[in-house]
Amino acid sequence: MSSLCTLHFLPLFLLFLLPVATDGATISITNRCSYTLWPAAVPVGGGVQLQPGEWWTINVPHTTPTSGRVWARTACSFDGAGNGKCETGDCGGVLACTVYGKMPNTMVAEFTIAGYNNIDFFDISLLDGFNVPMDFLPVPTNGQDGKGCSKGPRCATNITSQCPSALKAPGGCNNACSVFKQDVYCCTGSSSSNCGPTNYSELFKRNCPDAYSYPMDDSTITFTCPTGTNYLAAFCPPINISALALPPDANPPSPNATEQPAANTIAHRHNDARKWRKGMKNLGNY
Ligand SMILES: *[C@@H]1O[C@H](CO)[C@@H](O)[C@H](O)[C@H]1NC(C)=O
Ligand SMILES: *[C@@H]1O[C@H](CO)[C@@H](O)[C@H](O)[C@H]1NC(C)=O
Ligand SMILES: *[C@@H]1O[C@H](CO)[C@@H](O)[C@H](O)[C@H]1NC(C)=O
Ligand SMILES: *[C@@H]1O[C@H](CO)[C@@H](O)[C@H](O)[C@H]1NC(C)=O
Repeated sequence: MSSLCTLHFLPLFLLFLLPVATDGATISITNRCSYTLWPAAVPVGGGVQLQPGEWWTINVPHTTPTSGRVWARTACSFDGAGNGKCETGDCGGVLACTVYGKMPNTMVAEFTIAGYNNIDFFDISLLDGFNVPMDFLPVPTNGQDGKGCSKGPRCATNITSQCPSALKAPGGCNNACSVFKQDVYCCTGSSSSNCGPTNYSELFKRNCPDAYSYPMDDSTITFTCPTGTNYLAAFCPPINISALALPPDANPPSPNATEQPAANTIAHRHNDARKWRKGMKNLGNY
């Protein structure tokens, strides 16, 4: 009797699921490094092992605002049950991440799909340090209902090779805040309302101007696109990102991907971005 019920319910259940599963933001993640990565994505995706040249696609629903992160993990080893550890980006010792975990020296992309006013917000951040060069770019959807967007942050430079000795970490480079735990680097306490760049954050900024280098960095590096846009997360991205062949159904990103939006767009989205950054900070469990 119960198996009969299951049989009847299964097709209905699938019909209900299918449109939802395809009606979201696709994030195409690719490993262009010469070594194996274990990319992670939370709250949707978890994590996988990705060989050089391989793709991993996740689908973030845009029916409700969804905030999350994508990042790379390096030098991992997991057993058959998916338990183990990584040198960078570890999320509590599991292959399929459910939390951000403690991630010193790990660069992350942060996103909110279907945020305030049906806008997606996204950035890349060096606030937890650096491990693997990364781009996080919208995939233009030209001609599709006016949606689509061409600008996003890139950090294609290998900061590890220029990391000051005080910040060096296995497999990467720490942010000064996590090493020195001082207000001036963390924008806390006496620096919470008046916080500027430091010599350490400036080194990050010089190499990766699109990425957050200290907590109160210029909020114009939070990018926005209309909800409905798809995204590309590329680790060790090629310099000419538009030469990267995406999986079927996706168009290559614009060659001018790092260009800032027009000044009037910045002005009216600046405050939204600031509000959003505040919210993102509360999501991190560090
Ligand atoms: C970055 O530089 C470090 C140190 O020089 C090196 O070990 C690492 O493989 C480099 N990473 C990439 C992606 O080139
Ligand atoms: C940054 O400034 C501190 C304090 O003045 C100094 O100890 C440190 O060596 C400097 N670091 C770099 C990378 O210049
Ligand atoms: C980048 O790649 C695209 C696509 O292959 C090509 O059309 C374009 O000319 C390239 N740009 C540069 C600056 O090499
Ligand atoms: C891309 O940038 C170049 C140089 O700044 C500019 O000449 C060109 O018009 C831009 N193309 C687009 C599509 O914005």
